[in-house]
Amino acid sequence: MQHGANGYLLHQFLAASTNRRTDAYGGPAGNRMRFVLEVVSAVAAAIGPERVGLRLSPGVTANSMREDDIDELYPALVGELAGSGLAYLHVVFADPEQPLFQRIRRDWPGSLIANPALPWPGPLPADGGREAGEKLLAAGADLISLGRAFLANPDLVTRLRVDAPLNEVRGRHLMYTGGETGYTDYPPLRP
Ligand SMILES: Cc1cc2nc3c(=O)[nH]c(=O)nc-3n(C[C@H](O)[C@H](O)[C@H](O)COP(=O)(O)O)c2cc1C
Repeated sequence: MQHGANGYLLHQFLAASTNRRTDAYGGPAGNRMRFVLEVVSAVAAAIGPERVGLRLSPGVTANSMREDDIDELYPALVGELAGSGLAYLHVVFADPEQPLFQRIRRDWPGSLIANPALPWPGPLPADGGREAGEKLLAAGADLISLGRAFLANPDLVTRLRVDAPLNEVRGRHLMYTGGETGYTDYPPLRP
């Protein structure tokens, strides 16, 4: 489950700044988690937990969201998810030095994908996040994900494998727009 097109719907329930409900789905962290847990269990019941993954963005600030209680909320949520049998948990803004990341790694028994916390809006490090990703692998992540480096490099995996230089991301003004410019027009290493 990605937050993409649904505009971080799950996070809008998790974040106290956007969840203004006064029923059992709003208020304390245990209530704000309820919607996520119900969605996860409904989707997992329909298609099988091993075919479902969940992506979480602790501390997300998109769409005016503010999460003030990540150190309470996410350990509680991951604790509830631990027995779910999901294919993976994917954590964004992952920082191996952060106690929250270490806690999530300890408490989540399944595959953990980590997206390193890189400068946003940029610029990206010249290695696209490779070194940050390797630190996360050393800290226990099973897999890493990279976003903007992949956008700018259609052959990112090959480039990382052979230590080739990366295309630079051409600019934020090209993101979240229509058309191919800035999405599918980055050159591969060997066309
Ligand atoms: C143009 C663009 C579109 C994105 N769309 C989505 C999306 O639909 N769903 C999602 O979960 N993350 C989306 N992201 C966030 C990325 O998956 C990733 O978490 C983010 O870019 C941070 O990783 P990075 O520092 O390697 O770029 C998008 C990022 C960019 C730049």
